[in-house]
Amino acid sequence: MKVPEHVAIIMDGNGRWAERRGHPRFYGHVRGTKQVRKVVRTADRLGVKALTLYAFSTENWNRPAHELNVLWKLLKKFIRSELEVMNKQNVRFRVFGQIDRLDPELQTVINEAVDKLAHNTGLQLNFAISYGARSEIIQAIKRFGADCLSGKESFESLDESKLNQYLWTAPLEGLSDVDFVIRTSGEMRVSNFLLWQSAYAEYYFTETCWPDFGEKEFVKAIETYGCRNRRYGRTSLDEKIDPPSSIVH
Ligand code: FPP
Repeated sequence: MKVPEHVAIIMDGNGRWAERRGHPRFYGHVRGTKQVRKVVRTADRLGVKALTLYAFSTENWNRPAHELNVLWKLLKKFIRSELEVMNKQNVRFRVFGQIDRLDPELQTVINEAVDKLAHNTGLQLNFAISYGARSEIIQAIKRFGADCLSGKESFESLDESKLNQYLWTAPLEGLSDVDFVIRTSGEMRVSNFLLWQSAYAEYYFTETCWPDFGEKEFVKAIETYGCRNRRYGRTSLDEKIDPPSSIVH
């Protein structure tokens, strides 16, 4: 099976999943966290090299305080409880986003996990938290501009690979481009997620809400990727059909 190197997932539909079942919205996040564990393990087993999960967007800050508190608690609990398992699995861990806006305790938990798993060489697991692609690009341009003003960089040197070095995904180096984006819950939007890195990504949308998206659904999505023909703006490499002479003459 052809497996994408970098898979990014917009884990959507937790709230609707819970509401449809008569539960409070937070219960959807609780069930969604269980699926995170399953999908991380399945990605590792399939040989995915990098997995980026959209856990919280810059726009999500507008949610009620009690829902935010549940999300922070779940994130802390997930990182603490999975740390040893991830270490045994040789998983490396990173977080992309406006981390300084997070509660200091969560920042500490994140930093300790990143440090502990930094020397691992297996699956690169990334959480996008307080993440927005436009904010990411703006901070990259600002930092590059500051480096130009201080003489460390020159404006002429700006190209795609240079900008990559200023994005939050810079530590991923050769893996920063996303191959496959999955969005659950039937919404067909990109929602400010890895806009630069997904320039040539394949997209997969499913009606399944995130709390129901487990191993089987993930494998099905990856199989779909295997059938895609990625052309990067070229024609199919094996397409050698001459145009009719009426068109070219
Ligand atoms: C979208 O569903 C989901 C989120 C905003 C949060 C995702 C968080 C988790 C899966 C739990 C913790 C995460 C990790 C990585 C351990 P929604 O609430 O927008 O659903 P709706 O569109 O139905 O309202």
